[in-house]
Amino acid sequence: MTKLAVLGGVPMRDAKANPWPQWPVWDEKEEKALIEVLNSGVWSYNGPKEAEFNKAFSEYCGVKYSISAANGTVTLQMALEACGIGVGDEVILPGMTWQATAATIADVNATPVMVDICDDTWCIDPKEIEKEITPRTKAIIPVHLYGSFCDMDEILRIAKEHNLYVIEDCAHKHGGEWDGKKAGSIGDIGSFSFQLSKGLTAGEGGVVTTNNFELAERLDALRNCGRRPIGLAGDDDVDKGAGVYSDQGNFCQSGNFRITEFQAAILVEGLKRLPAQNENRDKNGMHLNSLLAELPGVTPMRRDAKETKEAYFNFAFRYNKDEFKSLSIEKFREALTAEIGIQATASYEPLNNCNLYVPLTKPARHKLNDQYWSEIDPSRFNLPVCDRIYKEESVCIHHKVLMGTTADMDMVAASIQKIYDNAEALI
Ligand SMILES: Cc1ncc(COP(=O)(O)O)c(C=O)c1O
Repeated sequence: MTKLAVLGGVPMRDAKANPWPQWPVWDEKEEKALIEVLNSGVWSYNGPKEAEFNKAFSEYCGVKYSISAANGTVTLQMALEACGIGVGDEVILPGMTWQATAATIADVNATPVMVDICDDTWCIDPKEIEKEITPRTKAIIPVHLYGSFCDMDEILRIAKEHNLYVIEDCAHKHGGEWDGKKAGSIGDIGSFSFQLSKGLTAGEGGVVTTNNFELAERLDALRNCGRRPIGLAGDDDVDKGAGVYSDQGNFCQSGNFRITEFQAAILVEGLKRLPAQNENRDKNGMHLNSLLAELPGVTPMRRDAKETKEAYFNFAFRYNKDEFKSLSIEKFREALTAEIGIQATASYEPLNNCNLYVPLTKPARHKLNDQYWSEIDPSRFNLPVCDRIYKEESVCIHHKVLMGTTADMDMVAASIQKIYDNAEALI
């Protein structure tokens, strides 16, 4: 028997001597761009780097409009408000996502309706969406979680049938493609996060994408204290009057959700690297998944034939304790972390019982009336698949695990085999 690293044995990878690729990635191009912004004195407010990034991101995603903002939480809020969603409305979202997807719905005074996920992708289950549609439903927020893609064909079909908006939460999906279309170009609006751990980052930041001029105009105003748009890159909006604003008053009420020029400068450079990074992560992800498929006790995530390009926030897979000599998932994750030298974690906590999603702690904001108060109680939702995945099956590793070589993927798979072979020592 070989001694497992978690028990003091030699790890499969000595991450100190042989570190994983670093995240985030930058070099002298970012340094130069940041100094340029510094010396220009234009540090925010519709600056040239922001315009350059918006244009480049639109081209990359194949959309007409990209509007950058402070982070991927306010972009969700802007998306909901641009769709006119508020009091009395219901929005359907998956029960497994980051808290912001639900919290922003409550923040615009609408009701988050959480539904269960597919156990092989951990993305929203279209069949569950259909069960929850009522005359009050206004939108669906599919979240392309970790490395998976939501079934956008089914979601668009349902949305069309019931006349609903589709707001894609693409915080994990920069550059992923469904049937040749980029995430964020498929629904009415795409919302992205550029927080530090994400596949494209400026430390913090976000962007919304759309092909719809009216939505773009509202989104642009919403990020900028409600001011009329000055000119949305990449379209004939000037002809539609968007450039004319000063004598028409504010477009709508809103706050300041603007991005800074420093963030935009970093994003301009990061976006140039993204296609090659994604290609490498996709290639390594496919290789690692093919190895997982051959191992006992673990199952790769299902990749739909329509996922023409994968993009990752985390590399995720499923664990089966029963096939793994009854070793608890917590011990498995701990052992894997020790072998590979990078943290293996659980998925997001289901939102019906999540430490970070607690709307009932804020009565001053959310207690609009007794009915609303009980509607936003997360514990009223039943999410058995989310619960099972979170507690029993989920293993997630940050996407930098996919930024190395084929040999690194072989080592991750060999680490799982090593834990399997030596599981008794942990039980
Ligand atoms: C699925 C999802 N949506 C939204 C967000 C919010 O993005 P941000 O952290 O930039 O506000 C995140 C961030 O983790 C996320 O994972």
